Amino acid sequence: MMAIAVLIHASGIGTVVGSASPRNWWVAMDGDTVVGCAEVTWHGRSAAILTNCVVVASHRRRGIGAGFVRVRLREARRRRKRIAALCTMYYSFRHYKRFGFRTMPRAKLPESVRTFTQFTSPRYMKCAVMVRALT
Ligand SMILES: CC(C)(COP(=O)(O)OP(=O)(O)OC[C@H]1O[C@@H](n2cnc3c(N)ncnc32)[C@H](O)[C@@H]1OP(=O)(O)O)[C@@H](O)C(=O)NCCC(=O)NCCS
Repeated sequence: MMAIAVLIHASGIGTVVGSASPRNWWVAMDGDTVVGCAEVTWHGRSAAILTNCVVVASHRRRGIGAGFVRVRLREARRRRKRIAALCTMYYSFRHYKRFGFRTMPRAKLPESVRTFTQFTSPRYMKCAVMVRALT
């Protein structure tokens, strides 16, 4: 978890949020080095929140981030979650739109995700919330 914490800190996306369970984390390795990480946080009974996704700058634009989205959506479906959501900056919108996510004003978010800490925290108000239904 130490390598992940360092990665997240260096990326500036904030502090590690969500559960501490390693079962909800994925990492990308280059040899012995962690070059990416991603987490899914379960919220309520039906929501999967994609959290803590970082790929080190030297390893971006190779599909690692997309792989992280796919594995987390797959796990969310396996657990029969109904909705997926995340919080991100405008320059990552296109990345997530490709997977069916759409931005949504916080006030219009479905109840099942509206109360997630990151979505109500003033710290993340510059980020938009993106959601998609899971079928
Ligand atoms: C967002 C982030 C995780 C994406 O990681 P990534 O590994 O670069 O993601 P991908 O490689 O799957 O996709 C990134 C882009 O590379 C492109 N790409 C993927 N494989 C490629 C390849 N082999 N050759 C060229 N381009 C490629 C994708 O099409 C995508 O293009 P886009 O700019 O149109 O979206 C990464 O940029 C990052 O860590 N950012 C800082 C932290 C952050 O903002 N995290 C998000 C919080 S929700």
